[in-house]
Amino acid sequence: MRKIILTLALTLAPFAASAADKPVWAFPVTDKTQPPSNEDPNRLRTSPNSEMKLTKAQIDNLFGPPDWRPEMHPPMADVVAHGRPPNVRACGSCHLPTGTGHDESAYIAGQPIEYFVRQMRDFKSGARTGAASMQTIAKDITDDEILSAAKYFASVKPLQWVRVVETDEVPKTYISPGNKRLALPDGGVEPIGQRIIEIPEDENLVLNRDPLKGFVAYVPKGALAKGEALAKGVEGKTIACAICHGPDLHGLADIPPLAGRTPNYLVRQLFMIQDGERAGPQSPLMAQVVSKLSVEDMLDLAAYASSLAP
Ligand code: HEC
Ligand code: HEC
Repeated sequence: MRKIILTLALTLAPFAASAADKPVWAFPVTDKTQPPSNEDPNRLRTSPNSEMKLTKAQIDNLFGPPDWRPEMHPPMADVVAHGRPPNVRACGSCHLPTGTGHDESAYIAGQPIEYFVRQMRDFKSGARTGAASMQTIAKDITDDEILSAAKYFASVKPLQWVRVVETDEVPKTYISPGNKRLALPDGGVEPIGQRIIEIPEDENLVLNRDPLKGFVAYVPKGALAKGEALAKGVEGKTIACAICHGPDLHGLADIPPLAGRTPNYLVRQLFMIQDGERAGPQSPLMAQVVSKLSVEDMLDLAAYASSLAP
């Protein structure tokens, strides 16, 4: 299979690389000025149908994040639940015990083990950049820890996590600590423009790192149809994604699934593969795919892939 794919990728005419402008909306960075808040840091946080009461500091303990929903996932590998100080932070803190993650991190549930291990190697070698937190972890994590995390997340059943909505207007948002986009309190609305705006379905749950509910991703009107045409290779602008990412984009052999994953993450990867920030040993298979894509095409493709059932 790999040989067929490689031959296919190489026989396609070389495309001119486009110098796309960085889609800053897909790369959220904590705003220097935050909206005023009179939140008490010692307030005990609760979540529906759970007995736990935790402070913000306990929730944000990256070596022992809360497990609000043990019934939603298999028993966690130790590196997922606790990590190993000082550098290997618990995977479950950012990616959640369900592997569904947040838009500023990544949805990693149900990924092929071989793919997962390769990404950790690429973060370590620097072939893949774009996430300082992952590079720090990858430099210190052992091969055994990587394998146990990879096996754990491969065994987690992918959950429906993102609801994609086409719209002209979105809530005004800001980027809170931890690079997390949230709706501005009493902020009103603004035109979406050419952006994907991803915010929690329920802000309290997301700030609690509770996997009960995920995200709504607002996309411009028409993005889904354009994304579907591109993904199926209709315009000849790129290669049909399913050839390598499998039917319904559920992944194939060591090639990762795309369906139902957070769209801003997908845009970041398409952009970073195009501009060379992500250049692992298997990235050349994607080079031909992205070479002619504009940022708008990436947006449309990500919106479409995210809208599919994981
Ligand atoms: C502090 C937050 C944080 C923690 C803790 C964390 N990650 Fe990540 N991880 C990220 C971010 C952010 C990205 C996305 C990078 C990007 O957008 O390019 C990511 C991406 C990944 C990816 C790439 C997914 C893909 O589809 O290619 C893998 C694999 C991964 N993380 C594994 C782990 C493992 C294993 C652990 C635990 C040892 C871990 N992460 C802990 C933030 C974190
Ligand atoms: C010729 C095979 C091939 C085709 C066609 C292809 N991909 Fe890929 N894609 C790959 C491989 C291989 C990887 C993993 C690269 C790696 O291991 O670093 C990948 C990775 C990705 C990633 C990063 C996933 C992650 O978890 O970080 C995205 C996003 C992506 N592809 C989107 C697309 C889209 C959208 C299309 C269709 C327009 C497409 N790909 C078509 C082979 C392909």
